[in-house]
Amino acid sequence: MSPALTETMSPVLTDSCSSDLKQAIKRLQLAFPRVGTGLEQDEEWVVVHHEKQWKKIRLHDYNDLFAVPGLYEKWVYDVLGCRSPQQVRTQLLSCLEEADHSPQTLSVLDLGAGNGYVAGILSEVGVEQFVGIDINPSAATAAERDRPELYSDFVIDDLTDLSDANARTLDSHSFNCLTCVAALGFGDIPPEVFVAAYNRIEDDGWIAFTIKSDFLDDSHDRSGFSGLIRKMLDTNILELVSRKSFEHRKASDGQALMYDAFVGRKRCSFPVVMAH
Ligand SMILES: C[S@@+](CC[C@H](N)C(=O)[O-])C[C@H]1O[C@@H](n2cnc3c(N)ncnc32)[C@H](O)[C@@H]1O
Repeated sequence: MSPALTETMSPVLTDSCSSDLKQAIKRLQLAFPRVGTGLEQDEEWVVVHHEKQWKKIRLHDYNDLFAVPGLYEKWVYDVLGCRSPQQVRTQLLSCLEEADHSPQTLSVLDLGAGNGYVAGILSEVGVEQFVGIDINPSAATAAERDRPELYSDFVIDDLTDLSDANARTLDSHSFNCLTCVAALGFGDIPPEVFVAAYNRIEDDGWIAFTIKSDFLDDSHDRSGFSGLIRKMLDTNILELVSRKSFEHRKASDGQALMYDAFVGRKRCSFPVVMAH
């Protein structure tokens, strides 16, 4: 039996949020750009009242975003209705159940971990072991502030150019699951970093990620992911178990942003040279 899902509850105030985070989310005051401003997904911004002043913050300025407790949750999950973490959780749980694997057996490398939302909701269904990696220092601080003690280690670094100390930290763990939610492309995680994380997962481990559907279309994609994912699937280096298109969230102008969620099994490592 898989653990009970709680998808009907608000995705904002999940059980794994600290009580300080819950209070911060309730108190935050936000102001938004006028609808019709026509902002690209990586240009979206909000004005937030924080420390007695109003401040404009771009969604993709992660250091500023995560520095304000509750801003990410209130804006992305409450206002824009982001469903990517829940989608990945639902699909991963159903694949685990079909394979007769328990969530308790997972040791997760959470790539582009942010402030720990994904690990938080996975912990609510029995996953216990997480290591986070992110490139922005404020992510680690925010994860510890908002969901204390969730990650056994949280590395801030570029996976393709790790410091010796961070490489040793990651080498000290064995991972049988990679999660990467809402973090591929858009000047965020490039294909080489995804491959470096993928190659750290044990063979037969679980790979779960979401990606903007446009990035899977060869004729539109400039992120490099359409080619990478096609190569991974065509060669069975990644064996697909489940793929679903879904509404990731609304854009600031109310348009639906469509993503695909993948869950698969790593059958072997991906040659780094093929990632370019
Ligand atoms: C939209 S947030 C998603 C956070 C989290 N996965 C979630 O769903 O709540 C994208 C995250 O990817 C991180 N990121 C961007 N580029 C990265 C890179 N090259 N390596 C690791 N993390 C990166 C950002 O710092 C940010 O925390």
